[in-house]
Amino acid sequence: MEIFKQIAPLRTFLDSLRKPDKSIGLVPTMGALHQGHISLIHTSKSQNAITVATIYVNPTQFNNPNDLQKYPKTPEKDLEMLQKAGCDVVFSPDDQEMYEDMPRMKFDFGHLDKVMEGEFRPGHFSGVALIVSKLFNIIQPDRAYFGQKDWQQFAVIRQLVRELKFNFELQSVPILRESDGLAMSSRNLRLSQAQRFNASVFHQALTMAKNALISGAELETVKKAVSDMVNSKPEIKLEYFELADSKNLTILNNVDKAVLPILCIAGYAGDIRLIDNMFLD
Ligand code: PAJ
Repeated sequence: MEIFKQIAPLRTFLDSLRKPDKSIGLVPTMGALHQGHISLIHTSKSQNAITVATIYVNPTQFNNPNDLQKYPKTPEKDLEMLQKAGCDVVFSPDDQEMYEDMPRMKFDFGHLDKVMEGEFRPGHFSGVALIVSKLFNIIQPDRAYFGQKDWQQFAVIRQLVRELKFNFELQSVPILRESDGLAMSSRNLRLSQAQRFNASVFHQALTMAKNALISGAELETVKKAVSDMVNSKPEIKLEYFELADSKNLTILNNVDKAVLPILCIAGYAGDIRLIDNMFLD
């Protein structure tokens, strides 16, 4: 496994490998890796000759300085996990390498970055779009992989790829969960034992809501039940729970059979923010 911290030698190395029959898969991450990240590596490896993972905690996507400062970092373990998963190349730059002192471009995705995460994390998706654009330009992959865990992020990146005519295939990979249903997340490392135990309520609430909606319950009733269920747990607080059209993230007032709806939830365990989602298929 080759490890790079700088753009120029990474570019030279990838150019030396680039061949028509040797596709490159890209898996961008912020490190503190777990099996969810590794499932993206496995998917990339099954479809490409070369898999490149990036590890970079991107400051421009953090609207909360405390969240940025406390973001978990496990660099040695990350490299071990990537090596074991058969990753070929790792790019882990520092802030100077990615941003220098340049003024920062802002992105506006209209409705896509105003609802749900966009409402509660202003500027977040602009920062995500900026960093992944840089990574796409540096690595020039044939395929790039993102998790369904961050479905709104995937929808924004899909729009970015369309608008800027990036020339590669974008793929989304299913959510990996812990045995109690909690979606794997780097931020789970920050949970106390009690918070970790209670955090599974987000997945339980999604499952309950999905079953209720499929059996014909009204969305308003389900929303109230979700809120009661989540907020009944110590230290857990619901931020939002929405039903949306998974394609364009239009917020729905009730189940619409003409679209594939997705249930999206966000909340806190103590001061740690967690998100999850579930398709209503
Ligand atoms: P990060 O949170 O490290 O996630 C990296 C990738 O792993 C994302 O595509 C995310 O959706 C996926 N992922 C996270 N948890 C997952 C799980 N439980 N199952 C499956 N996939 C999962 O998302 C980011 O980093 C950043 O915003 C980034 C795209 C790297 C830009 O900075």
